[in-house]
Parts: sequence; C-alpha cells; structure tokens
Amino acid sequence: MGVPMSSASVDAIVKVGGSLITRKSEPMSADVEAMSEVSRALSRAGRLVVVHGGGSFGHSVALSRGLSSSGASRDAEGASATRLAMHELSTLFLRELSAAGLRPFLIHASRPDSAEFWDGAASLVRDLLGLGVTPVTHGDVGVTRGGFRIVGGDEICLRLAERLRPPRVVFLMDVPGVLRDPRDPSSYVEELDPDGARAMAAGLSGADATGGISAKLSFAASIADLGVDVYLVSGRSTPDVLKATAGGRPRGTMVRDR
Ligand code: IPE
Repeated sequence: MGVPMSSASVDAIVKVGGSLITRKSEPMSADVEAMSEVSRALSRAGRLVVVHGGGSFGHSVALSRGLSSSGASRDAEGASATRLAMHELSTLFLRELSAAGLRPFLIHASRPDSAEFWDGAASLVRDLLGLGVTPVTHGDVGVTRGGFRIVGGDEICLRLAERLRPPRVVFLMDVPGVLRDPRDPSSYVEELDPDGARAMAAGLSGADATGGISAKLSFAASIADLGVDVYLVSGRSTPDVLKATAGGRPRGTMVRDR
C-alpha cells in the first residue's frame, strides 16, 4: 500500500530517562510532576521523536522476572507483565505530553533485532511527523530469536538515529551529565569523543535490565560515530532541555566525533 504523504525530517531524538519520570527506589512509582515539567519543555522544541525509559516500572518487573537486554527469555508471563508495566507508565507520560500541547502518537519497538523492522519504524516516524503528531516510543519487551528480550530506550535511539540521521540525540537524565564522581553533580564531563565515551563506559557498571550508564555511554558513542551529536543533560533544567533540543550548547556532556 503506497503512503503518499508529506514525510518530515527530525530535529532531535530525545530519550527521557526513566530516572527522570519515575521514582527509581519505589516500584511502579511515577513522578507526574517531573513528567509535566519535561513535557512543557519539550512542547517548546522543534520536531522531535520522544523515547522514554522504564525506570521503576519496566526495570522492577523485568529484573524480578529475569528479563534483560542480553539473552532471550521464554517467560511469557514475565514478558506480558513487563509490557503492561510499560504501558501503564507510558499512558501517564503521554497524558502529560498531551496536556503540554504535543500530540503524542505511540509506537512500539517490537522486533529489536530486525533491520526490516527498524526500516519500517523510521519510515513510519517520518510520516507521523509529516502528519503533525509527535512519535513516541519507549524501552520495551521485544521478540527476538529464541523468545523475548528487553530493548532499552538508548538502543532504540541508536536504531532510529542510524536511519533518521537527526542533527542531534539528547539523553535527558536526573543528573547534569556523565559524572566523574557519582556523588558530585558538578563533576560532569564536558565533552567526549566516541573512544573516550567507550573507555569511560568500560570503567562503569550497569545494574539494571539494560546496562545503566555504562550501556548508555556505549550507545552514545555509536550514535556519535554516525556523525550525530549526542548530549547528556539534566531533564530537570528547562533551559538546558531547550538548548539541547533546539541547537544550542547546554550544560552537560557532549559526545561528538571530532
Ligand atoms: C527499559 O528501558 C525498559 C524495560 C525495562 C522494559 P530503558 O533502559 O530505556 O529505561 P531507563 O531510562 O534506564 O529507566
């Protein structure tokens, strides 16, 4: 079926970290205030693709069921329960995006290891933007060879960036960048090249279902390898969210191929 529509380009892919929109210490606990604040900031940006994380919804269920991004699982009940948790979180966030004036349109990352799937998703995203809605997706449970696996939002950003080639990918977090000292928010690294990001990733550990900050830095490096600038900034700072999505230099960590 031909789809003769005006498809549009992407100004930025924005990953809204689960740490920002949920309370990570408490299972299934959403931070609706934070969702509302970040939604208002995003409503002032250009043409975005929004990807959100799982935080205390997806990760708590996935971890309790032994589901992760590495390796397939045949746990049908666990896969269904994890997807339901993500659905609940997503509904809350979509409401806030909508209340802020965006027109969110949810799509799913159902076959994370299929190139054809991502080709189709990228083409759908372009068409959705051309139709005036904001494509939204989230870290999810996908189907792969041998069963189910978790696909994190950071991985989704890489797969979409490979195809959409936006000028930038922005990771919104609950800290103002990649920190040298996790207890000191002012210790963020200003700039890394892809190799520097990979070296830093190797020294960090990942404690959740998708590898935490270490995996995030590896994905950021792969995105920067494409020639796409990556910013890791605080999602609690509206000026930095606006700069990061609109083309300025926000406070935070930039990963760029020099
Ligand atoms: C996790 O997505 C999704 C599930 C566990 C189902 P992310 O890995 O993108 O989530 P955050 O941003 O780290 O919370």
